[in-house]
Amino acid sequence: MKLLITGGAGFIGSNFVRHWLRAHPSDQIVNIDKLTYAGNRQNLEGVGAGHELVCEDICEANLEKYLEGVEAVFHFAAESHVDRSIDSAEVFVRTNVLGTERLLAAARRKRISRFVLISTDEVYGALGSAGECAEDAPLGPNSPYAASKAAADLLARSYGKTYQFPVLITRACNNYGPYQHPEKLIPLMTTNALRDIPLPVYGQGAQVREWIHVEDHCRGLEAVFRRGRPGEIYNLGTGSRLSNLEMVQTILRLLEKPASLIQFVADRPGHDFRYALDSGKARRELGWEPQIAFEAGLAETLRWYRDNRDWVESVRDDSYRQYYSQRYENREGYLRNL
Ligand code: TYD
Repeated sequence: MKLLITGGAGFIGSNFVRHWLRAHPSDQIVNIDKLTYAGNRQNLEGVGAGHELVCEDICEANLEKYLEGVEAVFHFAAESHVDRSIDSAEVFVRTNVLGTERLLAAARRKRISRFVLISTDEVYGALGSAGECAEDAPLGPNSPYAASKAAADLLARSYGKTYQFPVLITRACNNYGPYQHPEKLIPLMTTNALRDIPLPVYGQGAQVREWIHVEDHCRGLEAVFRRGRPGEIYNLGTGSRLSNLEMVQTILRLLEKPASLIQFVADRPGHDFRYALDSGKARRELGWEPQIAFEAGLAETLRWYRDNRDWVESVRDDSYRQYYSQRYENREGYLRNL
């Protein structure tokens, strides 16, 4: 089988390519990735011969050419960092909304038989201290990032309703695992702790996120592809919910680093309080269940960051340093060792 994957040099996409070719070594994957700061060729080292990386922008590429002979599309490509979307939303609208529309239109023209859109739990918006979101919960995206993902998610839905185009939409909770860019909570806190520099926790760290190991997410995406009903949405969550402060404390405990490294910093504007998914539909209909226990998965992830310092250094490039120096320009202690 031949698949087209977008954003397959990023965190979740590259894990998916590796997952897929390990399980189906004779399949072919065409991977379109713009290789922005968040995509990296190194993420794909050793994935196998069935994989071809095409460095192109989904907003400009001749997508129909790459869709030739393709049976299924997995659309991962997206600008994904909430804080960057707060600084400037334009590239989020371009890639996440226009890019998705172009890909849907090309895939429809080529009569692709399955199109999996990787959406996110952030489209539901914030919950208070109780409750969970099932797939029919109203959408209430709060950040420009979440709004752009909700637009993509709704466009995919509209292709299902209007054209009976076989879209499947997945909404997973926060992912963790190897190859995640260190602008995100777990790799940022881990790599800072390993270097004994402060861990910037927004506000009081009371916000709650639900966490899935990227490998469990990849298994869920495959289950959606194989057994999902076209036109349907599937939440992929674990029930492993922690406040950010609990998460950071757990990382420090596992790394045997002192809690004094925690530095509370200004909160994220419009910071969503809590995400929690009801994933019963995926369990019932697809027979999917996460397999990686949270603390075991986290400990293994921390080891990966400790053992792959070259990778970490290669993604902590000049643009990363510039981004952080702008964020924390008035926070001397934080910047001293960056
Ligand atoms: P993040 O990894 O950016 O994912 P998302 O915003 O998509 O959930 O952030 C996860 C949580 O961690 C979120 O509540 C914001 C918080 N956070 C911090 O407290 N400090 C940080 O430096 C970062 C990057 C995130």
